[in-house]
Amino acid sequence: WYKLLRFTRFTGLTAFNVFDEARSLGEHTDLIIRANDREFQVHKIILCGCSPYFRVLFSSNWTRIPEQFYDIPGMSRNIMSLIIQYAYTGSVFITEENVLELLVAADQFLVSGLVDACCQFLESRFCPENCIGICMFTEDFHSCSKLRHKAKLYILQHFEEVLQVSEEFLELSVEQLEEIIDKDELNVKQEEVVFEAVLHWIDHAPESRRKHIAMLLPKVRMGLMTSDYFINNVKSNALVMENEACMPLIINAMKALFEFDMDLHGPISLELIHQLTRPRLPSAILLAIGGWSNGSPSNVIEAYDANAGRWVNVTLEDERPRAYHGTAVLHEFVYSVGGYDSVEYFNSVRKLNLITQTWHEVAPMYERRCYVSVAVLDGFIYAIGGFDGHVRLKSTERYDPDTNQWTLTTSMNERRSDASATSLQGRVYICGGFTGTECLFSAESFNPDTNQWTLIAPMRSRRSGVGVIAYGDLVYAVGGFDGASRLRSAETYNPLTNIWCDTASMYNPRSNFGIEVVDDQLFAVGGFNGFSTTSDAECYDKKTNEWFDANEMAVFRSALNCCVISGLPNMAQYAAQRDAVQIQDGSDSE
Ligand SMILES: *[C@@H]1O[C@H](CO)[C@@H](O)[C@H](O)[C@H]1NC(C)=O
Repeated sequence: WYKLLRFTRFTGLTAFNVFDEARSLGEHTDLIIRANDREFQVHKIILCGCSPYFRVLFSSNWTRIPEQFYDIPGMSRNIMSLIIQYAYTGSVFITEENVLELLVAADQFLVSGLVDACCQFLESRFCPENCIGICMFTEDFHSCSKLRHKAKLYILQHFEEVLQVSEEFLELSVEQLEEIIDKDELNVKQEEVVFEAVLHWIDHAPESRRKHIAMLLPKVRMGLMTSDYFINNVKSNALVMENEACMPLIINAMKALFEFDMDLHGPISLELIHQLTRPRLPSAILLAIGGWSNGSPSNVIEAYDANAGRWVNVTLEDERPRAYHGTAVLHEFVYSVGGYDSVEYFNSVRKLNLITQTWHEVAPMYERRCYVSVAVLDGFIYAIGGFDGHVRLKSTERYDPDTNQWTLTTSMNERRSDASATSLQGRVYICGGFTGTECLFSAESFNPDTNQWTLIAPMRSRRSGVGVIAYGDLVYAVGGFDGASRLRSAETYNPLTNIWCDTASMYNPRSNFGIEVVDDQLFAVGGFNGFSTTSDAECYDKKTNEWFDANEMAVFRSALNCCVISGLPNMAQYAAQRDAVQIQDGSDSE
């Protein structure tokens, strides 16, 4: 013991390691565990400390093991050794090879810390290939219900990729498949994918599975399909046609899609139409936060649900008004940076926990920054330029969420307030803005490796109150004010060529609007059009190089900021209510 104590003090190890050392030397051990012909000398009290299973086993009332031996049949010596190691040291090396067996053993011995560690390990390894397997595996373990829930969510969110690569998908039972495709959370771009998933699954064992089409088809939201697809691929599908139970489903879907008045079968109920056209939940939602409305700062947050084509009021009760601020999304938090509330130019930064829906104040910036530009790069939030109430700023600082600290980085070449920033391929870009005397053409990029701002090619227009966002491989600079008028025009910057090119103009001129990319479309939201503040929104698709009208917000405002959230477990709280929603631009309008 003396030797051990000295050793411990010398190396600074904890008491746990003393016991582990004692174990390996066989000192004071009072039990031998046998697993698969290997013997382990242990101290009962240590095993009791980490496992209620052993505690009951060794309790004095328990007389089954009077001797010093305890056999654990069916346990591999490797796994037993890891369990014992965990009991003594509180840590163990989990690998892809041992994790499943270790989880089974940890569950058997009720070692909850180890169960949790195995579950965390598995969660960190989720991928489209293994998520169904992990979900099925956890079904036998009561202690893994959280992991099972997360695996299910992962399957729903990555459904299209799972379909591409998962062999386990074909092994689902009909009930499991039905449960998946029934969910609003199922993330599919088009409902056609769901129908094809059903066919793919049946095709794996057609003889035994073809009858299940009648059970699965009602879960496919046929009212969301294009009418062409429905006619050519669903209605005329051989499996569907040969199954009598599908007949009424098809008739109802036709009524929903074509508003057929089929008296013969009676009119379709509104409820059934809702069921057939109920939009899935979107995988990403655009938030429009705060701004300036009706001569005062606004606290409104509206969420745009692209699948339902609706804005939803998600304002929290204790929301504080802010305008001319920046927003950023990092690790399931929305940050609201700087800004102005008609009294104060803020250096404060608030963060919204999207899961608990609560705001917290984090460390303030060095500078007060109204008209600030914000971007996220490599896990840092950059707050760039702005106006502190007296002067327009060149300075830049960045926030590290792990340390809750702002650090000043290099200043820009130009003073810029009312510019806009984004990040693309490892650089932050900031474009346009106002110096206090002129609206700027110029733009610059920040390289975090060299900690330097570099002027890039200037834009074709002066743009203050501009919207800047990365979309595809390009930086888009949209709208703004050139010193004379509000702009409809937009241009794109290619970092590879250092060249700006004109792109399609918006329908409406606007400055100080929100800009974001969601669902692979670029949205321009609200802003000031030169005469009034607006609530309208439009979106641009780079595939067609066209702008489209989107639905307008409930509240007209400028100086708002937009951000996009995705992958939340509580997405439904930010989406339009499914029970009340009918899709607004129906698929038969195509
Ligand atoms: C949005 O919701 C908030 C909080 O529930 C409420 O105070 C506000 O009036 C709503 N705004 C609109 C435009 O409906």
